[in-house]
Amino acid sequence: MRILVPGGAGFIGSHTCLALLEKGYEITVIDSYINSHKKSLQRVLDIVKRNNRVKNISIDIEIADIRDEKAVEKLFIRYKDLGNPIKAVIHFAGRKSVQESVLDPLLYWDVNVNGSINLLRVMDKYNCRTIVFSSSATIYGFSNSLPLKENSEIKPINPYGRTKVAIEQILNDTYNNQTDKWKIANLRYFNPIGAHSSGIIGESPIGIPNNIFPYITQVAAGILDQLSIFGQDWPTLDGTCVRDYIHVMDLAEGHIAALEYLNNFEKKLVNLNLGTGLGTSVLELIDTFEKVNNVKISKNFAGRRIGDSCKVVADNCLALSCLNWSPKRDLEKMCLDGWKWQILNPRGYD
Ligand SMILES: NC(=O)c1ccc[n+]([C@@H]2O[C@H](COP(=O)([O-])OP(=O)(O)OC[C@H]3O[C@@H](n4cnc5c(N)ncnc54)[C@H](O)[C@@H]3O)[C@@H](O)[C@H]2O)c1
Repeated sequence: MRILVPGGAGFIGSHTCLALLEKGYEITVIDSYINSHKKSLQRVLDIVKRNNRVKNISIDIEIADIRDEKAVEKLFIRYKDLGNPIKAVIHFAGRKSVQESVLDPLLYWDVNVNGSINLLRVMDKYNCRTIVFSSSATIYGFSNSLPLKENSEIKPINPYGRTKVAIEQILNDTYNNQTDKWKIANLRYFNPIGAHSSGIIGESPIGIPNNIFPYITQVAAGILDQLSIFGQDWPTLDGTCVRDYIHVMDLAEGHIAALEYLNNFEKKLVNLNLGTGLGTSVLELIDTFEKVNNVKISKNFAGRRIGDSCKVVADNCLALSCLNWSPKRDLEKMCLDGWKWQILNPRGYD
């Protein structure tokens, strides 16, 4: 079964491509490489070849923007003509920085929303109506009680989050049209961290990392001087923010589980939280990282950041009950694998 993976060269996309290939799926990636590296998918192939002792495995890679309708359509035509049509899409492509979305909201609406509309239009034209979409926990409002359920209030506070809500709404409307039978999974990720256990693929941010985990690994490696912790007066056990960290390979496997779940239906729309359901404070994360890897993280405390919330933790019961899936790798494993990737690749893929 051939799957199209827009954004497949990125952090979560590359780990998912690996999981897909290991399960025998054929994949085509469309990626502009605006936030990724050509080496990531080459390394995915290296891992699959090594683990499975196969030589002739490949990923069809199209370097293009998902807003380019002709480029997307070309892929659907290619595989239709080969008698091996694209059956489903796992859609990662988009911009993901909250800060950048505040500075350039038009870019975010254009890439994330127009890009997704373009993709859906072409999918529809070629009768491919199964999609797993990368949504985010940022869509939930601050005032919700914890843990966050799929029916908690949706109230994002930044343009990035609003583009994710808009895409979910477009997918809802698409699903509700009476003529076609769509199968849609909106996967709302919590905080993916870590790397594949080989240390061969991982997160390779371009420039200074926006997220805490690559920041920690780069401070530990001496590339960055110090980690700033934003706020030590939050109403949590140690005063620092609490998040729900999930190992990127658990997340990757969640996508395949979602795809296989959708395949049981003629028509389906489902929203699912993908998290562990466990809250970890910033200090607990640093502490675990230091202990399991025997390293020291230089840190300081700064004031709270505008727009941060105190605690974000998933209720993952729906995902556990629908998908034949559960997160298997604990925080220690996330820290071990993320550090292995960092020491084997001090400058990421560069
Ligand atoms: N990493 C997280 O913490 C997180 C959390 C929640 C949701 N998400 C969402 O998951 C998805 C994947 O996240 P990631 O962390 O792997 O990000 P990433 O930036 O590593 O991957 C996104 C990929 O999409 C590509 N891309 C961007 N714009 C494109 C375009 N117009 N056309 C084609 N390709 C394009 C990038 O080059 C990159 O390879 C994103 O949609 C993101 O919003 C990520």
